[in-house]
Amino acid sequence: MESLKIFSVLLLTTTSSFVALSAASRWSPPPPPVASAGYTCDKYPAICTVAGSVNPNCCKTCVNLNKDNLNCGKCGMQCPSGKQCCKGKCVNIQKNRSNCGACGYTCLNTDHCCSGICVNLKTNILNCGVCGNKCGLNLNCCDGEIVNLLTNKKHCGGCQNKCEKGNACSNGMCDYA
Ligand SMILES: *[C@@H]1O[C@H](CO)[C@@H](O)[C@H](O)[C@H]1NC(C)=O
Repeated sequence: MESLKIFSVLLLTTTSSFVALSAASRWSPPPPPVASAGYTCDKYPAICTVAGSVNPNCCKTCVNLNKDNLNCGKCGMQCPSGKQCCKGKCVNIQKNRSNCGACGYTCLNTDHCCSGICVNLKTNILNCGVCGNKCGLNLNCCDGEIVNLLTNKKHCGGCQNKCEKGNACSNGMCDYA
C-alpha cells in the first residue's frame, strides 16, 4: 500500500515535469543565432539571411556581394580604386552608360557618361564630341564639333544653319556675294 503511494507521487512528478518541458519547447523555440550575439557567419552562415541582418552574404562577416567594394561578386574581390561595385561587378561610374554617377543609373538614348553625368556629345558645350572637350568663350558645340557660330559656314548663327555655296558667314549671318 505504501509503495503504491510512493509510486503515484513519482509518476505525478514525472508527468508534470514532462508537461512543463514540452510546454516550454512549444512556446519558446530557441532563437536563431544573430550577429550581435557574437556569432560569426563563418560558423553560422545562416545569420546573414535572418530577418534583421543588414547584409545577406557571408564572407567571414555579413556583406552584400552586389555592392560591397571589398567583396564584389565574390568574397575578397576588391574593386580597384575609382571603381564601384554595381550588381556584383566593378564599374567606373564616371564613364559607364549603364551606371552613370550611381549604380543602375542608365543614360537615355545616345547620351554618353562623362564624369558621372549623362550628356549628349553632339551638343554639350563642356563635352563636345568627347568627354571633357570644352567649348571656349563664345564658341558652341554643333554635331560634336566646337564651332564659332559667328563665322562657321555650316553652323552660321545656329547649329545646322548652313550658308549657301559660296557665301561666307559673318556675325552669324550668311553673306550674299
Ligand atoms: C558597364 O557596367 C556593366 C555592368 O552594369 C558592365 O557589364 C559593362 O561592361 C560596363 N561597361 C563598360 C564600358 O565598362
